[in-house]
Amino acid sequence: MADRSVAARSVSRSRAADWARGALLRGAVVALASFTAALYCLRTEVLHRVFTFHSHRNSGGMDETLQLVRNIVPPLTTEKHKGQDGRIAVIGGCSEYTGAPYFAAIASLKVGADLAHVFCTTDAAPIIKSYSPNLIVHPVLDKNTAVDEIVQWFPALHAMVIGPGLGRDEMVQQNTKDLIVECKYRGMPIVVDADGLWVITQEPSVIQGYTKAILTPNVVEFARLYTAVLDTPVDMENEPEALLKLSRALGNVTIVQKGHHDLISDGTTVLVCSLKGSGRRCGGQGDLLSGSLGLMAHWAFVAGKEKTDGINPTLVAAFGACALTRQCNNQAFQKHHRSMTTSDMIAEISTAFHKLFES
Ligand SMILES: *[C@@H]1O[C@H](CO)[C@@H](O)[C@H](O)[C@H]1NC(C)=O
Repeated sequence: MADRSVAARSVSRSRAADWARGALLRGAVVALASFTAALYCLRTEVLHRVFTFHSHRNSGGMDETLQLVRNIVPPLTTEKHKGQDGRIAVIGGCSEYTGAPYFAAIASLKVGADLAHVFCTTDAAPIIKSYSPNLIVHPVLDKNTAVDEIVQWFPALHAMVIGPGLGRDEMVQQNTKDLIVECKYRGMPIVVDADGLWVITQEPSVIQGYTKAILTPNVVEFARLYTAVLDTPVDMENEPEALLKLSRALGNVTIVQKGHHDLISDGTTVLVCSLKGSGRRCGGQGDLLSGSLGLMAHWAFVAGKEKTDGINPTLVAAFGACALTRQCNNQAFQKHHRSMTTSDMIAEISTAFHKLFES
């Protein structure tokens, strides 16, 4: 069995003076450079938590952050009715991109959502429907009545994943912006990815201060958003600092910076998820992440801070989705090697989830 490890690191800041912040950030960089080494200094102002996890001998040393994820997974009981464990909507899908919303929606179902909706453009709908009878597909996103029509569904939805396969059509982008405002107004948890992030890059005030939002930029999207918000190029030499800065500038919106390892921050805490994946990156992997994250965000908010040990539910959900995506990548790679695709990763969700969160 291949080794895999999680080195997760949680850095909680008290009302620390600036010098403490500097020290913390330098510490985070050290942690990144050698993220499997548990070498940290503990200061009174700064609470460090370091977790290392080896699955092949995980009997006693269960990783604490993974345990928090386990805490938010709703138990399967016979008393529940359809829909209680999650009704997720994906906003995205246009004539060019039909795979992304499919991957995001099907991922949320495979992780355990009861229902998955896709709100896409008119021409994309029949195509996305044809991929799977498990999805509910609404051809609305390019209509000028889209926002009104989608808002009608809000009472039936728990969380939204905004952006997979969205594209940059003007009407679609405008509708998406208005939808984000509606979500914010109603307190709906949202994950924003891909061209959904384009909306935010054009107008960051749309998301400002909405702490039920989780943004999932890749390196390019992160740099673009950083420049749009902070009006200066990002210094990637110090990734945790850049991430903290951007999150705070957006009013402590949670950001998952996807990369070689995933960095997650809510402006206060930085978590690192470096569970072993593989050298293979296939298009669509980010959609698996955003789709599963939409559901886990719902779970985490329902569970509340008691179940997450006081840690922001968005962080726990994000860590769970990152760990799951990496585990799927790892398992699919072992079977398919270079030929691995996102469909192969989707097929691993059930065993990967079970392994990480139910065993
Ligand atoms: C964001 O979090 C930091 C650190 O916890 C806090 O000092 C700051 O006031 C927060 N900002 C907002 C806008 O809530």
